[in-house]
Amino acid sequence: MQIELKDVSANYQLGPIRKQNIVNSVNLRIESGAYTALIGRTGAGKSSLLKTLNGLLLPTKGSVRVGDTIIKAPYDKEAIRKIRKQVGMAFQFPESQLFAETVEKDICFGPLNFGVPLEEAKEIAKKMIELVGLEASILSKSPFSLSGGQKRRVAIAGILAMKPSVLVLDEPGAGLDPQGKKEIMSLISTWHQQEGLTTILVTHDMEDVALYADQVILMDQGKIIKYEKTKTIFSDWDLLESWGIEMPQARRYQMKIEAETGIKLPKICLTLEELADALVSVGLV
Ligand SMILES: Nc1ncnc2c1ncn2[C@@H]1O[C@H](COP(=O)(O)OP(=O)(O)OP(=O)(O)O)[C@@H](O)[C@H]1O
Ligand SMILES: [Mg+2]
Repeated sequence: MQIELKDVSANYQLGPIRKQNIVNSVNLRIESGAYTALIGRTGAGKSSLLKTLNGLLLPTKGSVRVGDTIIKAPYDKEAIRKIRKQVGMAFQFPESQLFAETVEKDICFGPLNFGVPLEEAKEIAKKMIELVGLEASILSKSPFSLSGGQKRRVAIAGILAMKPSVLVLDEPGAGLDPQGKKEIMSLISTWHQQEGLTTILVTHDMEDVALYADQVILMDQGKIIKYEKTKTIFSDWDLLESWGIEMPQARRYQMKIEAETGIKLPKICLTLEELADALVSVGLV
């Protein structure tokens, strides 16, 4: 589903004070089916921008469009409900997403809310819990008794159970061990491709950006600073330097090899597989 933000500003109401422009006049268009990484330093407004995509944070100015659903002031409740169904969001802190007495009830909540019969919702919950790598026996447990990594997986299962067209993930690897993180990231990537989703991933991990994202949005102070293809971002030295963005490992090796041999590889390599192919193509291995 295509996403379009036109001149969107949003902020949080803190008692009588409104924090100004946490999201600041953002114009953005994301094509259907794209996998986009959203990066930027802490406090840049990444989580807030994600929240504007599913109606959790409403634009004070401008409009958010997902498919043919538009959110803008004055707000239409039906449009907000529709956008919440279309845009599945994994929160930065999964505990703020889980609330039911049991894992099963938690995962069933979304589908039930959107009219799926109970037995079918239970079937979906069982399928999804296995998909995210957990045992079906966890369904009867309280979400609050789970480890951080299990909570993260349950939260993701709950989102996938809603069959969203847009998947919005706020640091989904946080709280997982390296293996668990790899599993979840690869599950999301497979799901993205299989279901033809439009996916937006907030992450501080440039390896994940390099591996999965077609394009990258760099944000700062509520604004979009850059929006480019992943390869373009990682070939822009000045940009990386000035924003303290780490280079993916393969690209770092590539630059070292090029400096040492004086041979320039034919393309920018973001994964070790790409680097291996490039080295073979110039006869270096
Ligand atoms: N619920 C809230 N109420 C008031 N202010 C908030 C709230 N959530 C975030 N903010 C403020 O909005 C700004 C942007 O925060 P946001 O959480 O969107 O940043 P972020 O880029 O996701 O950062 P991080 O990488 O640390 O997750 C910050 O100044 C933050 O203090
Ligand atoms: Mg955040």
